[in-house]
Order: sequence, then structure tokens, then C-alpha cells
Amino acid sequence: MGQLHVMDHPLIQHKLSVIRDKNTSVKEFREIISEIASLMCYEATRNLPVEDVEIETPVATAKVKRLAGKKLAIVPILRAGLGMVDGIVQLIPSVKVGHIGLYRDPDTLKPVEYYCKLPKDIEERDVFVLDPMLATGGSAEAAISFIKQRGCRTIRLMNIIAAPEGVKKIQEVHPDVDIYTAALDERLNDHGYIVPGLGDAGDRIFGTK
Ligand code: PRP
Ligand code: URA
Repeated sequence: MGQLHVMDHPLIQHKLSVIRDKNTSVKEFREIISEIASLMCYEATRNLPVEDVEIETPVATAKVKRLAGKKLAIVPILRAGLGMVDGIVQLIPSVKVGHIGLYRDPDTLKPVEYYCKLPKDIEERDVFVLDPMLATGGSAEAAISFIKQRGCRTIRLMNIIAAPEGVKKIQEVHPDVDIYTAALDERLNDHGYIVPGLGDAGDRIFGTK
């Protein structure tokens, strides 16, 4: 079964407390989603392979460590996943970015795909799927299935808030996928919203409500 990593670093938890607040402005919400994504990326990439390299400092030869050229890609789930992209690109400027467009049908809560564009060599890359909210898990489950259909085998899911229902679904359907989240909340309400959650992440990032 895939592991669930709840990132309880104090900086992440403090920032999360600000975006949960319904009085936080769109500007601040957007900035903090990006900052949390950066901090989560820092933690989630802790085990990336490095290799020894020799370089010349102004003083002497030094044996240093560099990333071992592991090919990475991030795939935000539109719309809300877009809010996490910049924070990760700041840390990994060469990362390739695919996009998957899904929305939840408000009546059935089932994901509907409307866009998919992935890097051509996605099957050679380690992929982080990005979405601030893991609620029923339907959207993430579908996004991961699309990426697997393109031959990609190493996939991780990065959320900011997860519900137990969504975690269970991903662990059942995609047991090879680790989940990174800043919080595991209590439950879903009757409308499929995470409780206590932070409301509709897409609307709060883009100011559409
Ligand atoms: C939200 C959220 C996830 C999905 C989570 O997107 O960003 O993609 O719901 O719910 P699930 O786990 O039950 O599938 P939404 O459908 O509101 O679209 P948006 O990002 O365009 O606002
Ligand atoms: N999507 C959101 O944006 N928020 C939720 O709480 C659930 C799904």
C-alpha cells in the first residue's frame, strides 16, 4: 500500500492555518498555496538520488554532490493544482509540467476530463501529481490512471488537505502511489467538501466566487 506522509513541519502548519481562514484574501491565499507547495516539495524530494562530482572552487578541488539527473515532471490537476506549480518550479527550474483538466460534476461528484497534455517522455519521468484538495479521491484517481495509461510508473500525489475517504480510494486503486499532504482532515460533508477543509480551493485561488 502507498504511504501517507503528513507534513507537520511548523512552517507548513502555520501557513495552512492562514489559508483555512475564510477571511484570508485571494492574494494571500494564492501566495501561501504556492509557499506551502515549495515547502512540501523540499520535504518530498528528500530522497532524490545525488551523484559525486568534482569541481574547482576558487581555492581547491572539491568533491560535491549534484542531483543525479533524475527526470521529474509535475502534473497539476486543473484548475486548483495550478496554484502549486510556481512554488515547485522555483525549487526545480528544469522540471517539465504536464496538465490534466478535470472538474467534479457537482451532482455525481465524478471527475470529467476536459484537457490532457503531458511531456512526450512522461514514461521516463518520476511524476508528482498536484492538487490542493483530495476529497472523494475521484479526480486524483482518474488523473493518476491517465498518466499510467501513458506508461508512467513512478507517481506521487501531492495535496495540501486530504480527507480519509480520498486517501482510502487512492490506496485501494493505486497502491503504488505515495501521498504527501499537509493535513489529514476529519471527513467529507454531504456536498463532498472536506471538513473543516478550506472551502473550494479553485475559487479561492482564482477569486471566482
Ligand atoms: C476540486 C479540487 C480537486 C477535486 C477534489 O476541483 O481541486 O481537483 O475538487 O475532489 P475529489 O477528490 O472529490 O475529486 P474542482 O472539481 O472543484 O475543480 P476546479 O479545480 O476547477 O475548481
Ligand atoms: N474540492 C475543493 O476545492 N474543496 C473541497 O473541500 C473538496 C473538493
